[in-house]
Amino acid sequence: MRVHESIIDLIGNTPMIRLKTGIAGRGCQAFAKLEFFNPTGSVKDRMAYYVISKAVKDGKLKKGDTVIDNTSGNTGSSMAMVCSHFGLKAVVTTPVRTSQEKIDLIKSFGAELIVTPEVDDHFDPKGCYMVARNLAKEKGYFDLDQYNNQDNIESHYKSTGPEIWDDTDGKITHFIAGIGTGGTFSGTAKYLKEMNPKIKTIAVDPEGSIFAEYIRTKKTTEGHAYKAEGIGSDVITEALLPNLVDEVITVSDKDAFNRARLISKTEGISAGGSSGSVAYAMEQVSQRLGQDDIIVGIFADDGIRYLSKCYNDAWMRQYGYIPVLEETI
Ligand SMILES: Cc1ncc(COP(=O)(O)O)c(C=O)c1O
Repeated sequence: MRVHESIIDLIGNTPMIRLKTGIAGRGCQAFAKLEFFNPTGSVKDRMAYYVISKAVKDGKLKKGDTVIDNTSGNTGSSMAMVCSHFGLKAVVTTPVRTSQEKIDLIKSFGAELIVTPEVDDHFDPKGCYMVARNLAKEKGYFDLDQYNNQDNIESHYKSTGPEIWDDTDGKITHFIAGIGTGGTFSGTAKYLKEMNPKIKTIAVDPEGSIFAEYIRTKKTTEGHAYKAEGIGSDVITEALLPNLVDEVITVSDKDAFNRARLISKTEGISAGGSSGSVAYAMEQVSQRLGQDDIIVGIFADDGIRYLSKCYNDAWMRQYGYIPVLEETI
């Protein structure tokens, strides 16, 4: 019988698909790695499974224990799915700006969800970051701490990196990924550069995040609010290894969301906002490449979880991302 024993077996080995929008007709080839093929629909399944299964193996977690972390949404579903597999409980904190679809999805996987207010200071005790850290300490929960956990990087070093290398028969020349914790980018870039130091690694950061300036100048600046989910940060994280970044490209919310919509419409690939940023950056990079170049970009999640946001015309108009007269997508 061709069956799987558990949903866990379906994490990783995601497909890569040729990308045409904005890139067809240029010299190079471009591929998107579709991470929404993971069981809960995002790249985060890899990290959650790796970190939690390692803690179970090491005896740091046993049946009935609780795992906690703060998340912009996707990690919450991944944690909850992996926790249910191991008989663990998941508690998730998320800021109020997280899309309703993602909030409902996290709950549907059985996690306890705490929605926290937006705060100016990352270390404000009311914000999602500190609520998670403080609850972990008070209640003795296992603190996943994806933003600083080095096993986050290792999960991609051991899975995403080798998959991309194998899928392109080692011919990849440019790797592009959005940075949220930095784990996907850092682990994958580390593996690819070990295989071929000439591979160029390009990080994508939303306008308003402080990562780009830090990577370019090592200066920590003040960011400002943005609407993209899952990428960018208002603090520097330990899951980002800045020395592995050859170039960082900043993409506005408007460009990211419009590109995600265009890709869904023209290629039938349902792309989330961060995938839109990556696709936008891929087009920019493609302009300077030639026939022997192969770009791979990470599409971290799909557009279905943003139907109330970048796939909603009224929402797009409200923030000036599409002209007022555009009626349909
Ligand atoms: C939609 C989306 N894109 C990109 C990322 C970035 O991944 P990482 O945290 O590994 O940098 C995330 C992470 O949560 C995400 O949810």
